[in-house]
Amino acid sequence: MLIQVPDVLTPAQVGEARRRLAAATWVDGKVTAGPQSARAKDNRQLAQDDPVAREVGDLILQALQQQPLFVSAALPLRVFPPLFNSYSGGQSFGMHVDNAIRHVPGTPHRLRTDLSCTLFLTDPAEYDGGELVIEDTYGAHAVKMPAGHLVLYPATSLHHVRPVTRGTRVSAFFWIQSLVRSDADRTLLYELDGAIRGLPQTPEAQHVAVRLTGVYHNLVRRWAEM
Ligand code: NI
Repeated sequence: MLIQVPDVLTPAQVGEARRRLAAATWVDGKVTAGPQSARAKDNRQLAQDDPVAREVGDLILQALQQQPLFVSAALPLRVFPPLFNSYSGGQSFGMHVDNAIRHVPGTPHRLRTDLSCTLFLTDPAEYDGGELVIEDTYGAHAVKMPAGHLVLYPATSLHHVRPVTRGTRVSAFFWIQSLVRSDADRTLLYELDGAIRGLPQTPEAQHVAVRLTGVYHNLVRRWAEM
Protein backbone atom coordinates (compact mmCIF):
# COMPACT_ATOMS: atom_id res chain seq x y z
CA MET A 1 0.00 0.00 0.00
CA LEU A 2 1.37 3.38 -1.05
CA ILE A 3 -0.17 6.30 0.87
CA GLN A 4 0.36 10.00 0.26
CA VAL A 5 -0.18 12.26 3.28
CA PRO A 6 -0.57 15.97 2.42
CA ASP A 7 0.32 18.96 4.62
CA VAL A 8 2.36 17.22 7.31
CA LEU A 9 4.41 20.42 7.69
CA THR A 10 3.06 23.94 7.14
CA PRO A 11 4.85 26.19 4.61
CA ALA A 12 6.30 28.11 7.59
CA GLN A 13 7.67 24.89 9.12
CA VAL A 14 9.13 23.85 5.75
CA GLY A 15 10.81 27.28 5.45
CA GLU A 16 12.29 27.00 8.95
CA ALA A 17 13.51 23.44 8.28
CA ARG A 18 15.08 24.52 4.98
CA ARG A 19 16.89 27.47 6.61
CA ARG A 20 18.36 25.26 9.34
CA LEU A 21 19.32 22.48 6.92
CA ALA A 22 21.01 24.91 4.51
CA ALA A 23 23.39 26.01 7.29
CA ALA A 24 24.25 22.44 8.41
CA THR A 25 27.15 20.19 7.34
CA TRP A 26 26.37 17.76 4.51
CA VAL A 27 28.35 14.58 3.87
CA ASP A 28 28.43 11.80 1.25
CA GLY A 29 25.15 9.84 1.41
CA LYS A 30 27.02 6.53 1.36
CA VAL A 31 27.47 6.82 5.18
CA THR A 32 24.15 5.04 5.85
CA ALA A 33 24.23 2.68 2.84
CA GLY A 34 25.25 -0.98 2.85
CA PRO A 35 27.97 -2.10 0.37
CA GLN A 36 25.46 -2.98 -2.38
CA SER A 37 23.29 0.16 -2.19
CA ALA A 38 26.42 2.32 -1.81
CA ARG A 39 27.18 1.48 -5.46
CA ALA A 40 23.77 2.85 -6.50
CA LYS A 41 23.70 5.85 -4.16
CA ASP A 42 24.92 9.28 -5.24
CA ASN A 43 23.62 12.11 -3.03
CA ARG A 44 24.43 14.23 0.00
CA GLN A 45 23.17 13.59 3.52
CA LEU A 46 23.17 15.36 6.85
CA ALA A 47 25.38 13.52 9.39
CA GLN A 48 23.14 11.38 11.62
CA ASP A 49 24.49 12.99 14.80
CA ASP A 50 24.17 16.55 13.47
CA PRO A 51 22.13 18.57 16.03
CA VAL A 52 20.17 20.18 13.16
CA ALA A 53 19.07 16.70 12.03
CA ARG A 54 17.83 15.98 15.57
CA GLU A 55 15.96 19.30 15.89
CA VAL A 56 14.27 19.22 12.49
CA GLY A 57 13.66 15.47 12.90
CA ASP A 58 11.85 16.08 16.20
CA LEU A 59 9.70 18.74 14.53
CA ILE A 60 8.69 16.16 11.90
CA LEU A 61 7.99 13.42 14.48
CA GLN A 62 5.75 15.80 16.45
CA ALA A 63 3.89 16.82 13.30
CA LEU A 64 3.31 13.16 12.41
CA GLN A 65 1.47 12.55 15.66
CA GLN A 66 -1.15 15.08 14.51
CA GLN A 67 -1.82 13.12 11.31
CA PRO A 68 -4.62 10.54 11.71
CA LEU A 69 -4.07 9.34 8.12
CA PHE A 70 -0.41 8.57 8.88
CA VAL A 71 -1.23 6.81 12.17
CA SER A 72 -4.04 4.78 10.58
CA ALA A 73 -1.87 3.69 7.64
CA ALA A 74 1.39 3.04 9.52
CA LEU A 75 0.22 1.91 13.00
CA PRO A 76 3.69 2.93 14.22
CA LEU A 77 5.46 1.08 17.03
CA ARG A 78 8.89 2.74 16.51
CA VAL A 79 9.89 5.54 14.17
CA PHE A 80 13.53 5.98 13.12
CA PRO A 81 14.84 9.52 13.77
CA PRO A 82 14.51 11.26 10.37
CA LEU A 83 17.56 11.55 8.09
CA PHE A 84 17.94 14.22 5.41
CA ASN A 85 19.21 13.97 1.86
CA SER A 86 19.89 16.32 -1.02
CA TYR A 87 20.23 15.64 -4.76
CA SER A 88 21.51 18.08 -7.40
CA GLY A 89 23.73 18.16 -10.50
CA GLY A 90 22.46 14.86 -11.93
CA GLN A 91 22.68 12.93 -8.64
CA SER A 92 20.42 9.90 -8.25
CA PHE A 93 19.88 6.73 -6.21
CA GLY A 94 19.65 3.61 -8.38
CA MET A 95 17.34 0.66 -7.78
CA HIS A 96 17.73 -0.79 -4.28
CA VAL A 97 15.86 -2.21 -1.31
CA ASP A 98 16.23 -0.70 2.17
CA ASN A 99 17.96 -2.72 4.92
CA ALA A 100 15.49 -4.85 6.91
CA ILE A 101 16.96 -3.96 10.31
CA ARG A 102 18.32 -0.59 11.44
CA HIS A 103 20.15 0.22 14.64
CA VAL A 104 18.64 3.36 16.19
CA PRO A 105 21.65 5.67 16.77
CA GLY A 106 22.46 6.47 20.39
CA THR A 107 20.19 3.72 21.74
CA PRO A 108 20.47 -0.05 22.28
CA HIS A 109 17.36 -0.50 20.08
CA ARG A 110 17.00 -1.99 16.65
CA LEU A 111 14.07 -1.37 14.38
CA ARG A 112 12.55 -3.62 11.72
CA THR A 113 11.85 -1.43 8.69
CA ASP A 114 8.26 -2.31 7.73
CA LEU A 115 7.54 1.04 6.08
CA SER A 116 9.71 3.61 4.33
CA CYS A 117 8.78 7.26 4.34
CA THR A 118 9.92 10.29 2.33
CA LEU A 119 8.86 13.80 3.37
CA PHE A 120 9.49 16.29 0.57
CA LEU A 121 11.04 19.63 1.62
CA THR A 122 11.37 21.19 -1.85
CA ASP A 123 8.55 21.90 -4.29
CA PRO A 124 8.41 20.11 -7.68
CA ALA A 125 8.88 23.47 -9.46
CA GLU A 126 12.33 23.86 -7.83
CA TYR A 127 13.92 20.88 -9.64
CA ASP A 128 13.62 18.59 -12.65
CA GLY A 129 13.73 14.81 -12.28
CA GLY A 130 14.13 13.44 -8.77
CA GLU A 131 10.97 11.32 -8.82
CA LEU A 132 10.88 8.56 -6.22
CA VAL A 133 9.91 5.46 -8.22
CA ILE A 134 8.44 2.59 -6.20
CA GLU A 135 7.81 -0.85 -7.68
CA ASP A 136 5.10 -3.20 -6.54
CA THR A 137 3.14 -6.02 -8.14
CA TYR A 138 0.97 -3.39 -9.91
CA GLY A 139 3.96 -1.78 -11.62
CA ALA A 140 6.16 1.27 -11.00
CA HIS A 141 4.78 4.42 -9.35
CA ALA A 142 6.63 7.74 -9.72
CA VAL A 143 6.07 10.10 -6.78
CA LYS A 144 6.97 13.79 -6.58
CA MET A 145 5.01 15.81 -4.03
CA PRO A 146 4.78 19.42 -2.83
CA ALA A 147 7.00 20.52 0.07
CA GLY A 148 5.58 19.41 3.41
CA HIS A 149 3.84 16.31 2.00
CA LEU A 150 4.98 12.73 2.53
CA VAL A 151 4.73 9.31 0.92
CA LEU A 152 4.59 6.09 2.92
CA TYR A 153 5.33 2.76 1.20
CA PRO A 154 6.25 -0.82 2.13
CA ALA A 155 9.98 -1.06 2.87
CA THR A 156 9.88 -4.41 1.07
CA SER A 157 9.60 -2.53 -2.27
CA LEU A 158 12.39 -2.02 -4.78
CA HIS A 159 12.70 1.73 -5.40
CA HIS A 160 14.97 4.38 -6.89
CA VAL A 161 15.32 8.15 -7.22
CA ARG A 162 15.66 9.49 -10.77
CA PRO A 163 18.53 11.90 -11.53
CA VAL A 164 17.95 15.52 -10.51
CA THR A 165 18.87 17.42 -13.68
CA ARG A 166 18.03 20.97 -12.51
CA GLY A 167 17.88 22.57 -9.08
CA THR A 168 18.07 20.73 -5.75
CA ARG A 169 15.75 18.16 -4.18
CA VAL A 170 15.84 18.09 -0.37
CA SER A 171 13.88 15.51 1.64
CA ALA A 172 13.62 13.85 5.02
CA PHE A 173 13.48 10.06 4.98
CA PHE A 174 12.96 7.50 7.71
CA TRP A 175 11.56 4.08 8.54
CA ILE A 176 8.79 2.76 10.71
CA GLN A 177 8.41 -0.50 12.57
CA SER A 178 4.68 -1.07 12.57
CA LEU A 179 2.62 -2.79 15.25
CA VAL A 180 1.37 -4.91 12.33
CA ARG A 181 4.19 -6.48 10.32
CA SER A 182 2.19 -7.63 7.29
CA ASP A 183 1.44 -5.00 4.66
CA ALA A 184 -1.70 -6.95 3.67
CA ASP A 185 -3.02 -7.02 7.26
CA ARG A 186 -2.17 -3.33 7.75
CA THR A 187 -4.01 -2.48 4.53
CA LEU A 188 -7.14 -4.30 5.75
CA LEU A 189 -7.07 -2.33 9.01
CA TYR A 190 -6.59 0.93 7.13
CA GLU A 191 -9.57 0.18 4.86
CA LEU A 192 -11.75 -0.86 7.80
CA ASP A 193 -10.81 2.29 9.74
CA GLY A 194 -11.62 4.48 6.73
CA ALA A 195 -14.97 2.72 6.17
CA ILE A 196 -15.96 3.19 9.84
CA ARG A 197 -15.04 6.89 9.72
CA GLY A 198 -17.14 7.26 6.55
CA LEU A 199 -20.36 5.93 8.11
CA PRO A 200 -23.17 8.49 8.44
CA GLN A 201 -23.81 10.13 11.82
CA THR A 202 -27.26 8.54 12.21
CA PRO A 203 -28.02 6.47 15.35
CA GLU A 204 -28.49 3.33 13.24
CA ALA A 205 -25.16 3.77 11.42
CA GLN A 206 -23.35 4.65 14.65
CA HIS A 207 -24.61 1.40 16.21
CA VAL A 208 -22.96 -0.42 13.28
CA ALA A 209 -19.84 1.77 13.73
CA VAL A 210 -19.45 0.64 17.34
CA ARG A 211 -19.64 -3.05 16.34
CA LEU A 212 -17.17 -2.57 13.47
CA THR A 213 -14.82 -0.66 15.79
CA GLY A 214 -14.91 -3.73 18.02
CA VAL A 215 -13.90 -5.86 15.03
CA TYR A 216 -11.09 -3.37 14.24
CA HIS A 217 -9.62 -3.51 17.74
CA ASN A 218 -9.96 -7.28 17.96
CA LEU A 219 -8.03 -7.63 14.69
CA VAL A 220 -5.32 -5.31 16.10
CA ARG A 221 -5.22 -7.55 19.23
CA ARG A 222 -4.76 -10.57 16.99
CA TRP A 223 -2.06 -9.05 14.77
CA ALA A 224 -0.14 -6.49 16.87
CA GLU A 225 3.41 -7.34 17.99
CA MET A 226 5.25 -5.14 20.49
NI1 NI B 1 15.77 3.45 -0.16
